[in-house]
Amino acid sequence: MLDETIMAQRCRWAPWQSKLCTAEQAAAHIKNGMTVGMSGFTRAGEAKAVPLALAEMAAKEPLSITLMTGASLGNDLDKLLTEANVLARRMPFQVDSTLRRAINDGRVMFMDQHLSETVELLRNQQLEKLDLAIVEACAITEDGGIVPTTSVGNSASYAILADKVIIELNLSAPLALEGLHDIYIPQMRPTRPPIPVVAPDSRIGVPYIPIDPAKILAIVITDKSDSPSTVLPPDQDTQRIADHLIAFFTQEVEQGRLAPSLLPLQAGIGTMANAVMSGLADGPFEHLTMYSEVLQDSTFDLLDAGKLDFASGCSITLSEERGKSVWNNLDAYRDRLILRPQELSNHPGIVRRLGIIAVNTALEADIYGNVNSTHVCGTRMMNGIGGSGDFARNAQLSIFVTKSVAKGGDISSFVPFASHVDHTEHDVDILVSEHGLADLRGLAPRERALVVIEQCADPAYRPALRAYFEEASGRGGHTPHCLEQALSWHLAVEQEGNMRRFSIDELAEVG
Ligand code: COA
Repeated sequence: MLDETIMAQRCRWAPWQSKLCTAEQAAAHIKNGMTVGMSGFTRAGEAKAVPLALAEMAAKEPLSITLMTGASLGNDLDKLLTEANVLARRMPFQVDSTLRRAINDGRVMFMDQHLSETVELLRNQQLEKLDLAIVEACAITEDGGIVPTTSVGNSASYAILADKVIIELNLSAPLALEGLHDIYIPQMRPTRPPIPVVAPDSRIGVPYIPIDPAKILAIVITDKSDSPSTVLPPDQDTQRIADHLIAFFTQEVEQGRLAPSLLPLQAGIGTMANAVMSGLADGPFEHLTMYSEVLQDSTFDLLDAGKLDFASGCSITLSEERGKSVWNNLDAYRDRLILRPQELSNHPGIVRRLGIIAVNTALEADIYGNVNSTHVCGTRMMNGIGGSGDFARNAQLSIFVTKSVAKGGDISSFVPFASHVDHTEHDVDILVSEHGLADLRGLAPRERALVVIEQCADPAYRPALRAYFEEASGRGGHTPHCLEQALSWHLAVEQEGNMRRFSIDELAEVG
């Protein structure tokens, strides 16, 4: 039995009862071949019941769809949908190992997109029209407006552009989330007026997703929580990376290039970005702001420490512990938080306007500063470019961090030639590993190579990188290369499972 008081608070749209149904009944509206847009961004705010019913339905009848989300999903949904063969096409981002395998085996067609761009493509009919949207809500307004939960992601445009909408009303999502969201939909191009975000705390829209209520096909009541984030505490290497960055920011402040409030900060998802953000608590910084994608534990640590004045993002993804303290105490943060659609949190024009400091993680970088965020050995998809490209190209300071080696030292993260390039040397100002920080600003490729090798590469791999660069320089060119050797480090991984033949130990053995 639904509690009438709770439903009166959460479901203020008068005809809601006529739309109430089970997840199975709602899922039955989804037919083979349809294109579906779903809420969910970095394990936050995804629809939780209908996708499960969909996976069960697929065991009984052919059912394969194109699924678009904001970014990655929690509650193992990508895994379950992949195992049930529901996903024919998937975009724009994922982090699930089962889905990753299916993508790399060619069983799921994955479109790896800049996260700000998916809804622009939809709006301009450059992607298949959405048949249906499934959006998680913490409330439905008097006019049938959808109040999202812990992420906005692409939910607003999906609900607006889809023919029909299924709402999952999650009774476990705090009602205090209402008021946190700022929904603004850019007008059509080419006559679009400027988007009026001029500071991280600019409120420019309404706190709910306005849709034509005639499109509401079904309302499903749920109570499952988001999956907690999997961010690990900093290890020695991530702590060193954070320390190098904090020292760099401190020096920029001392030299007058940055104010003690720095600039609005963007930090990618994951342990490293979280460690860097946490490290800011100890630096000489004050009145910080964030204009980012995901707000993680570190955001709330900084808010609590009085170091961070305001945080704008498009989702909140927290560890179990931090979740308990934040979700039960949202009112304490209400005036210092905004959740926006991802096309605004990641908007290239706004990123350029605000002069953001962007900190993202690289899988590998080459000696000239080209960054690969996505493809292992140039072929196998890891997760996707996510928002890193939206920020890196347009930031005032574009920073990439990575440990100098992967797989216990088998693989050098600094290579002669990146096997896939997501961020070209033109978009990368600073590279940081646990060994040091390479400030590439104002440097030509030949100068960049020396700094990257000496500051960031693991000492074991430096001699081979130096030798490569010396030989390449001798051959000439603005960006010198020995093309026949450029991918030999990756070839070694394909053939021998590691790059050890380029490490100092094995080079010494060869003599
Ligand atoms: N070659 C092969 N594998 C590598 C590698 C390399 N050069 N560098 C890292 N890896 C592997 C690690 O060994 C690890 O593997 P495991 O999961 O089997 O342990 C995995 O990649 C993740 O690396 P890790 O060092 O733990 O870093 P991470 O979890 O922070 O992930 C990225 C790094 C690049 C994969 C991740 O940040 C990402 O997907 N970035 C792109 C999207 C993005 O930037 N989003 C934020 C925008 S706001």
